[in-house]
Amino acid sequence: MAGNWKMYKTAAETTRFLEQFRPLVENSRHCEIVICPPFPNLPAAVAAAQGTRIAIGAQNLFWAKEGAFTGEVSAPMIRAAGCSHTIVGHSERRQYFGETNETVSKKTIAALDAGLTPIVCVGETLEHRESGRTEAVLLDHCQGGAASLTAHQFSSTILAYEPARAIGTGKTATPEIAADAHRIIRDFARRVHGPQAAENLRILYGGSVKPDNIKSLMAQPEIDGALVGGSSLDATSLAWIVNF
Ligand code: PGA
Repeated sequence: MAGNWKMYKTAAETTRFLEQFRPLVENSRHCEIVICPPFPNLPAAVAAAQGTRIAIGAQNLFWAKEGAFTGEVSAPMIRAAGCSHTIVGHSERRQYFGETNETVSKKTIAALDAGLTPIVCVGETLEHRESGRTEAVLLDHCQGGAASLTAHQFSSTILAYEPARAIGTGKTATPEIAADAHRIIRDFARRVHGPQAAENLRILYGGSVKPDNIKSLMAQPEIDGALVGGSSLDATSLAWIVNF
């Protein structure tokens, strides 16, 4: 269960959130919990999560280890800050910051090289869905982001299916539509990396996940977890989702 905070919260708010959130998930042993705050809040989040099962992740990274890349942050820096995960290729990054399959792939490999678990996002837009291109877009994103990974790298990668039309809109994909997309992604994994890798692959659903729809989404055997945006900003609501 992963929370994507996007560009919300200061460091002080991060600490307050974790103080409130920690006791609420103290007994949750059924899943991994990852929270992804903005870059400047990572040290505060790592400090406040110390000694708990809550992992901290970044929302993005740059593929070079270091260099003259003003404004960028590298995987080793994120790792050194105490993070274990990073989101890669979120649809907002594809839409507003020019991310392509090529950059997603480079970032995924950079994350893995630094020992971070990448959560690689794939998913169609409304336009893609309406023109019947959902499957083609999903396969293109999977191919671009995960086909060149070695078996070992792939086994350390999490995929997240996020239909762009469901992000921040309150319009979740129905659990059945989400499960269909997850099947397409798992079939891809089977073809490229084999049946065992496909079975072990964790695929998260993201897009307007809320306390009141998590149960029906997680009832789909194809859905292994959730990548939660808006609802992850409130400790009670994220704890409810984790403990569904
Ligand atoms: P949302 O965002 O839950 O606010 O729809 C999900 C995401 O973008 O990861």
